Amino acid sequence: MISNSATGAADGGFGVYVHWPFCAAKCPYCDFNSHVRHGGVDEPRFAAALVRELETMATMTACRPAETVFFGGGTPSLMSPGTVAAVIEAIDRLWGLPAGAEITLEANPTSVEAEKFAGYRSAGVNRLSLGVQALDDAALATLGRRHSVAEAIAAIELARSVFPRLSFDLIYARPGQTLAAWEAELRRAIGLAADHLSLYQLTIEEGTPFAARHAAGRLAIPDEDLGADLYELTQTVCEAEGLPAYEVSNHARPGAECRHNLVYWRGGAYVGAGAGAHGRLTGPDGRRATATERNPERWLALVEAQGHGLVVDEPVAPVEVADELLLMGMRLSEGVDLVRHAGIAGSPVPAERIADLAGEGLVALLPGGRLAATRRGRMVLNSLLAALAA
Ligand SMILES: C[S@@+](CC[C@H](N)C(=O)[O-])C[C@H]1O[C@@H](n2cnc3c(N)ncnc32)[C@H](O)[C@@H]1O
Ligand code: SF4
Repeated sequence: MISNSATGAADGGFGVYVHWPFCAAKCPYCDFNSHVRHGGVDEPRFAAALVRELETMATMTACRPAETVFFGGGTPSLMSPGTVAAVIEAIDRLWGLPAGAEITLEANPTSVEAEKFAGYRSAGVNRLSLGVQALDDAALATLGRRHSVAEAIAAIELARSVFPRLSFDLIYARPGQTLAAWEAELRRAIGLAADHLSLYQLTIEEGTPFAARHAAGRLAIPDEDLGADLYELTQTVCEAEGLPAYEVSNHARPGAECRHNLVYWRGGAYVGAGAGAHGRLTGPDGRRATATERNPERWLALVEAQGHGLVVDEPVAPVEVADELLLMGMRLSEGVDLVRHAGIAGSPVPAERIADLAGEGLVALLPGGRLAATRRGRMVLNSLLAALAA
């Protein structure tokens, strides 16, 4: 189990998420809030707006040091190191950033972006998350990526020499991918990885070019059985190589888990700034859910006019907080603290419900009163959650 001291808090911890909503090109499988602006982006204006929105959000949250910061996107590695430094300085001024705080930035592995790695490190970034996606040039072309395998490997090697911590993302269950091909690619990735890998099964997201191609029969992806076999293989190889899954798609050597994502999965509090960012704040009136305007230019106009781009800011009822704790916590191998859950929900999850699911091999009770999904349970997480909540 991951120690709670990794985030320093039994309540899930506290982090700050900053969204950069721009990409150089839109990948055909991706439905993240990311936008291409061929005419360029007024970066100083967006940087000033990010700082201003963070200032406003600081007045809405209980004051406590930020244990983690995460620059996500979109493509945050399109930001200049100066913008990243200004945002980190603002977070330090507003909440305080202890010496051991984890500061992650997502980067695409092109050579242009690699040139900025040293600048990000000087700005305070101490963990890089690289979107490698595949170690196969034909697959990178199918995924519409703008980098080659050679460029990705050069970026990984450079990042390892610049940042204390590194992770990279791969997408598997890709069109035409066999078990043997994925095993070889995964083993190569583990050889290149430092201590963390995010391994996502390709999802066909509604409204994307991949969804249209798939509907037209022009994109054959592994069927459910092969998908399940690919998942099993991923777990077996990673476990044997010392990178067990600590979450459905995230693998780490013990102690190297992404502390920021643990804040989400452990039901912690987080500020979400930038276009289309979500937050969960804890204030004197309890927990609140926030979301900002998704369109970057409309978000910018809102922040410049009123100090924030919030379009959602509402209380979350305790029963919903408890549901979220289950929804997020069951993704983790450490599971959910049932006493904490019952304290928030007002009543425990019925013992017979847990016993039924345990009988089916989908959940297990862990020492310390925690409930976790088994490997099989994690493969059918949505129906498992529905059964738990029933
Ligand atoms: C915000 S995105 C990545 C950041 C960065 N722009 C990049 O592409 O490298 C986070 C990760 O989600 C994963 N991802 C995005 N869309 C996906 C999909 N449809 N199926 C599976 N994984 C996906 C990719 O591995 C990606 O690196
Ligand atoms: S995968 Fe990354 S680079 Fe591609 S569109 Fe999505 S956020 Fe942008």
